[in-house]
Amino acid sequence: MSTPSTSPAKVLVWDTPVRVFHWLLVLCFAGAYLTSESERWRLVHVTLGYTMAGLIGFRVVWGLLGTRYARFSQFVRGPSAVMRYVATLKQSRPEHHMGHNPAGALAIVALLSVAAVVVATGWGAFNDVGGEAFEELHEIAANLMLGIVGVHMAGVLISSWKHRENLIGAMVTGKKTGQPEDGIRSHWRSVAVLILLAVAAFWWQQWQNAPTEGYPGSGGTGAVSMKGAKHDSDHDDD
Ligand code: HEM
Ligand code: HEM
Repeated sequence: MSTPSTSPAKVLVWDTPVRVFHWLLVLCFAGAYLTSESERWRLVHVTLGYTMAGLIGFRVVWGLLGTRYARFSQFVRGPSAVMRYVATLKQSRPEHHMGHNPAGALAIVALLSVAAVVVATGWGAFNDVGGEAFEELHEIAANLMLGIVGVHMAGVLISSWKHRENLIGAMVTGKKTGQPEDGIRSHWRSVAVLILLAVAAFWWQQWQNAPTEGYPGSGGTGAVSMKGAKHDSDHDDD
């Protein structure tokens, strides 16, 4: 809408905390999923799950206080905006957004919400709240999230192709092609460093407090029981 003042250049769109959040979330989800079946890896599974909880908590705060394109008020749109954007994808020049497009934003809100359910039900299963129900719900929510991740990745590829814009590269470097006034000014690297330090400190603390003897059959590798470490002494899984 605004008249371009200069020729397009690479401008900063995603601050460093958003990018660190994104790739840590991917790592935690993948790690938690891959370790979900095995009791031997339960501590890793739970640690990655709680890390994910912290990341979501951070993202909610950053969605309210963060930089321009990180704010929910900038990218969360109603159904009509989503439909309009999807309809323009058929055209040769689809509606373009410097931040998240309305359809992508829908997947993002769904991912954050379902991730919260995965973590809450995982906590319920781990702390033996509500019997089998939490375990069932936890697995269903995790698989639902996997499905949305698939849609999210397909959406990223489709939008990248339709806009001839490398969206994955932008989530790595933070930069997209645009007018200088479209860019954000600060990287907020200090906040990203704090996130990384908090995650490292949590993982270190989990590692230090890991039970060394484990339970019968664990091989003493620091595994915890399915229902949590507090049950290890009185619970035999034979
Ligand atoms: C605070 C976070 C988490 C905690 C405390 C937690 C805890 C647990 C526990 C205790 C189980 C075993 C349930 C049972 O007895 O069958 C489990 C299973 C499972 N978790 Fe998590 N989890 C967490 C996060 C996650 C995340 C982020 C994912 C997504 C990747 C995930 C995916 C799964 C899946 C798919 C299973 C089912 C495995 C099976 O087939 O038995 N969990 N989780
Ligand atoms: C576990 C898997 C994943 C989850 C849970 C996830 C979640 C998210 C979330 C929450 C955002 C919003 C970022 C923010 O504003 O804070 C996002 C954006 C994005 N994700 Fe993922 N993501 C996953 C996997 C991937 C993968 C594997 C790729 C690349 C191959 C990818 C590429 C992107 C891109 C390019 C964006 C920005 C989209 C845009 O330009 O609007 N994501 N993702």
